[in-house]
Amino acid sequence: ESVELGAYDHYMLKEIYDQPRALAATFHACDNLLRDDSCFGDGAAAIFDRVNNVQIAACGTSYHAGMVARYWLEELAGIACEVEVASEFRYRKRVQHEGTLLLTISQSGETADTLAALRNAGEHEFVGTMVIANVDNSSLVRESDLVFLTRAGAEIGVASTKAFTTQLVALLMLTIALGRRRGMSPEKQQEVINALQRLPDFVEETLELDTNIQQLSEAFIPKHHALFLGRGIQYPIAMEGSLKLKEISYIHAEAYPAGELKHGPLALVDDDMPVVAVAPGDELLEKLKSNLEEVRSRGGELFVFADRAAGFSSEPRVKVLNMPHCPEVIKPIVYTVALQLLSYHVAVQKGTDVDKPRNLAKSVTVE
Ligand code: G6P
Repeated sequence: ESVELGAYDHYMLKEIYDQPRALAATFHACDNLLRDDSCFGDGAAAIFDRVNNVQIAACGTSYHAGMVARYWLEELAGIACEVEVASEFRYRKRVQHEGTLLLTISQSGETADTLAALRNAGEHEFVGTMVIANVDNSSLVRESDLVFLTRAGAEIGVASTKAFTTQLVALLMLTIALGRRRGMSPEKQQEVINALQRLPDFVEETLELDTNIQQLSEAFIPKHHALFLGRGIQYPIAMEGSLKLKEISYIHAEAYPAGELKHGPLALVDDDMPVVAVAPGDELLEKLKSNLEEVRSRGGELFVFADRAAGFSSEPRVKVLNMPHCPEVIKPIVYTVALQLLSYHVAVQKGTDVDKPRNLAKSVTVE
């Protein structure tokens, strides 16, 4: 590998710590977002003018980025958005709304299913195709109408970290570009830009919590299962947190929208099933706590990643990690970093091959 490890024990850790730089570089790829779409490729303005819907197809971690984007596109830009794993999308007979942009998301730009989703797109089915990719001159980049390249730099660790968070920055910028055509106010656009500008600092602050997160991670080492809960836009972040944990620590992990806990998974919570809650507000945390009350007797334990301004504190069987107080819109990105560190430390302490987990490949170029 040509990229040096430097002082880090693993590429994954190096890549987690590279995020402030990578996020800033990705944000600075679009200089004049409030007026100019050229950072999304030649001809972006003409295509964006015709977009009424966005259809996202992607795999793995990139699919989770798409799920986050759906909340941003619908809430901030007023654009209908559907997201599907590419391996399903490619084989399904679809009814496509008029004015749909096909958006693929891929670190490598070479994932076979995602590429097939693009290649299968009927000639007149979409107003255009766009890819958010990290590798220039990859197949998806060559074959899409519009291209946005994330500036993550080389990502060596199989478990994606900085590629994911830079994809989220790209998607938030795309939300502004599409939103300003659909009545997203200039104030709101500016607010999002300001939040993106400050994002690297909030990520730095999160990285400073590394030792606290490592301490928290010790509780997961003897466990065989873990449950991640999130509500709204934090649900896909819970999914990404659980994917990271299973990929590198081989602990079985699942993510649920917080409201679904009582519809099944609660039955499984015991001392072998810690529950991780991502960014819950007051009300949700109270509900979770009362749910867990029932299983406390069986040893259920809750790990809460919450805004420090919310003032939650740890109590028996509820451990709180106080996260930086940051704008809502970038919380999915900031909380992801904490969950990456959690998985990393669990895996290191379990002694797995963090950068090359068993059976997994960095890029899946065959079906
Ligand atoms: C593999 C990798 C994942 C990645 C997925 C999609 O499964 O192990 O980390 O998220 O492929 O890859 P892509 O390059 O399309 O983002």
